[in-house]
Amino acid sequence: MIKKIGVIGLGYVGLPVAVNFGKEFPVLGFDIDKQRIKQLTQGIDCTNEVVQADILQTNIEFTTDSRRLREVDFIIICVPTPIDSNHQPNLSHLLAASETVGKHLQKNTIVVYESTVYPGATEEECIPVLERASGLRCGEDFFVGYSPERINPGDHIHTFSTIKKVVSAREPKVLDIIAETYGKVIGAGIHKSSSIKVAEAAKVIENTQRDVNIALMNEFALIFDRLGIDTTEVIEAARTKWNFIHFTPGLVGGHCIGVDPYYLTYKAKMIGHHPEVILAGRRMNDDMGKFIALTIVKKLIKHDVAIQGALVTVLGLSFKENVRDLRNSKVVDIIRELQDFGLTVQVNDDLVNPEIAKMQYGIDVIPLNELEKSDAVVLAVPHRHYVDAGWRQMEDLLKEGASLVIDIKSVLDLKKKPSQIDVWRL
Ligand SMILES: NC(=O)c1ccc[n+]([C@@H]2O[C@H](COP(=O)([O-])OP(=O)(O)OC[C@H]3O[C@@H](n4cnc5c(N)ncnc54)[C@H](O)[C@@H]3O)[C@@H](O)[C@H]2O)c1
Repeated sequence: MIKKIGVIGLGYVGLPVAVNFGKEFPVLGFDIDKQRIKQLTQGIDCTNEVVQADILQTNIEFTTDSRRLREVDFIIICVPTPIDSNHQPNLSHLLAASETVGKHLQKNTIVVYESTVYPGATEEECIPVLERASGLRCGEDFFVGYSPERINPGDHIHTFSTIKKVVSAREPKVLDIIAETYGKVIGAGIHKSSSIKVAEAAKVIENTQRDVNIALMNEFALIFDRLGIDTTEVIEAARTKWNFIHFTPGLVGGHCIGVDPYYLTYKAKMIGHHPEVILAGRRMNDDMGKFIALTIVKKLIKHDVAIQGALVTVLGLSFKENVRDLRNSKVVDIIRELQDFGLTVQVNDDLVNPEIAKMQYGIDVIPLNELEKSDAVVLAVPHRHYVDAGWRQMEDLLKEGASLVIDIKSVLDLKKKPSQIDVWRL
């Protein structure tokens, strides 16, 4: 029976994991970020994923003191696995966390990795670090498992406890303990994979499949734009067939869908396979910001707006709707491209932290009521409040006589569109 659980890395993934386990087990939440630990101790989650009452009511102690990891017998590692500027996996956080865990590892502890990696990374990269730092042998003195995280920030229906959990381990007995432990906090059921590699691969293909499908929709959007037909209408018609899979075009940002495929392609190249489809999809999705910006410029010219000095309003800066996470936001590509053409861009997003936007991208986020009336409005990220405010807000934000609205995700109801508005959708 597991006595105490340690969760390493308390970000978008780790905090919900810790809070859910905290309902059934004593939990030690460890992070290297002192500010984050200070806030969590007060029940404040700046990612907005967990409410204060849930943090304070569960049985978690937050700490930056790694020596306290000696108290736990089940460790879950949820640190970031980003890519570098060459699209290569950056395992530095994962290896640093493994080193920390290894230094304080007690005999018979089970270590489960939840961070997304390529197939083979846990056994080839992480276990050797755990063994070296602890001086213990994996499979004899301590045990390792892998359980990919599938939570979807901003989504309050598919949550940690309501998503089926894939678990894996090297030894069948350890797999049973991991399954049983997760089973105490996950209502949706547990899927036991036959190996750690299978579970690692399952996670990367989930996100790669999504990336490639969105890329296909984006390619359709480029074709239909030239044909002068509306992609959303085409998809609505195609969806009436029972086996058409419903994906929509759009920007692919964030730190999962646009990143995880590179973990798979990295490993594929290492073993002599050059991935074609996956990388084509990545290129397509990465270029969408430029295409959208170019379309806005063309539309403004058609509207007789002088490009130099034109003002464009961009609504939404986070990487997807209803979240405040700014990491790898592709809206930034649109803004930069428009600025390169000489346009002035003003940005609003009341969900994001303006200081982080300024620090990460040098972008000033302006409160809605301080925006100037502009020549075009781009609804880039359809946060709920923008969609609820609808066409009225679009009209309010346009200069007198201006009429161009860009509804990237096709969320505004065309039936209610004021007749003078010229809308373009991806
Ligand atoms: N965010 C998602 O939607 C999501 C969904 C599924 C899977 N994942 C995967 O989960 C993992 C974590 O992602 P995230 O979004 O929670 O990241 P995050 O950046 O939100 O949080 C990571 C936390 O880990 C901490 N950290 C970094 N290095 C550390 C170390 N050496 N020791 C202790 N703490 C450390 C950071 O301070 C931070 O608080 C990644 O592999 C990601 O791909 C993320």
